[in-house]
Amino acid sequence: MKLWEGRFKKSLDKTADEFNSSISFDKNLYFEDIEGSLAHAHMLCEQGIISKEDYSLIKQGLSKIAFEIHSGDLLIDEDAEDIHTFIEGELTNRIGDAGKRLHTARSRNDQVAVDLRLYLRKRLDEIINSLYKLVKTLAQRAIETKDYVMPSYTHLQRAQISVFGHHLLAYAEMFLRDIDRMKDAKKRMNISPLGSCALAGTTYNIDRFMTAKELGFDAPCNNSLDGVSDRDYVIEILSDFSILMMHLSRFSEEIILWCSKEFSFVEPDDAFSTGSSIMPQKKNPDIAELIRGKTGRVYGSLMTMLTVMKGLPLAYNKDMQEDKEAMADALKTAIQCLNAFEPMIKTLKINKDNLKKAALTGFINATDAADYLVKKDLPFRDAYKIVGELVAYCIDNEKTLDNLSIEEYKKFSDLFEKDIFDSVSLEKMISERTCFGAPAPDNVEKQANKILEGIKND
Ligand code: ARG
Repeated sequence: MKLWEGRFKKSLDKTADEFNSSISFDKNLYFEDIEGSLAHAHMLCEQGIISKEDYSLIKQGLSKIAFEIHSGDLLIDEDAEDIHTFIEGELTNRIGDAGKRLHTARSRNDQVAVDLRLYLRKRLDEIINSLYKLVKTLAQRAIETKDYVMPSYTHLQRAQISVFGHHLLAYAEMFLRDIDRMKDAKKRMNISPLGSCALAGTTYNIDRFMTAKELGFDAPCNNSLDGVSDRDYVIEILSDFSILMMHLSRFSEEIILWCSKEFSFVEPDDAFSTGSSIMPQKKNPDIAELIRGKTGRVYGSLMTMLTVMKGLPLAYNKDMQEDKEAMADALKTAIQCLNAFEPMIKTLKINKDNLKKAALTGFINATDAADYLVKKDLPFRDAYKIVGELVAYCIDNEKTLDNLSIEEYKKFSDLFEKDIFDSVSLEKMISERTCFGAPAPDNVEKQANKILEGIKND
């Protein structure tokens, strides 16, 4: 059965019918579709557009359908055009004419727009909760590793000193911004398109404020054309997911790198690694690699929707049906990735000794040696040059800034005294990096606790 059969002399070609149908993916919206219909029917009744008896039949009928789909007693007919058609058809089969009155002053255009907003609002909460869990794990592990000294990198070259906990908190900050972005998107999209109807509202005396309130929206949308044409919220959420995936992917990339023999900084737990079918020695970071790989899918969904929408005249066009599959795939992927990533981080083995070994070589104390001279009033640029020459000398003579003699230091500058060794030691370099946001262990602990305190009720 089609909702639009009256005007047609032929039924839809079978292939065209299958191609046109969205039930295989919009069936996931059944609950929200019924939720929207219940609010709409209630409003129609309050406004005297349908009778109390019809409303009562609709209410009971829809509630029963929702319950039966949920329990598995009612199977969704995959031959229906979409979930809206299926539910209206099922209702009409059960309650007769009252069911046929439900679609008064409504179109599938505003119906689908309401359904999707209700659905995404809920699913966003799921992702936000998973993100809070991840941030909590990162902050807890940052406290545990606040004094695991390591080199930080620029250009993947050892650059300056840090601690593992500081690195973890850098990601915690990024994920906190991801949470913020999603909450923001949720706020902006919480507007009801219901009552926009096909595009021009209706001549019935409907109360759009009532349905908006009943469905937990902040207000009805101001413009009926906008109400049925807008998919900004889909694109905004896909952008937020893309940024989240970019963060997860960057972090995964570091884990992949760090668990190679060349780094040996971390080792994923056996429960989050796989082996090779031929090489018995292999332990591969597949989970991190898959997350890095799946990032492409989410970017793909964003590109799909940006492209779908870019040339569409107002208002509804069937192209927009693509929003649901793109969104469902991105949602599923992002949630899967988060749910695999968090326990992998929680159980990650961190090799404190190897981190320290890496920090001892690579001249990550060169800036500190220059700062030593600057504190003795030498202009920074001159100090930079002297230490550059010192580093070149060390490289030529296979030495480090820690094991040069004071006589060798003095050949480069008279300002060097014995306390230079203290200034270029790992302990001093890290414990004195106390400026706000820097990686001194006390700072890291304070910041991690601040994060934990800030999210404890979320
Ligand atoms: N399945 C459609 C979609 O998801 C529902 C809206 C249909 N509206 C229409 N005018 N054909 O976009």
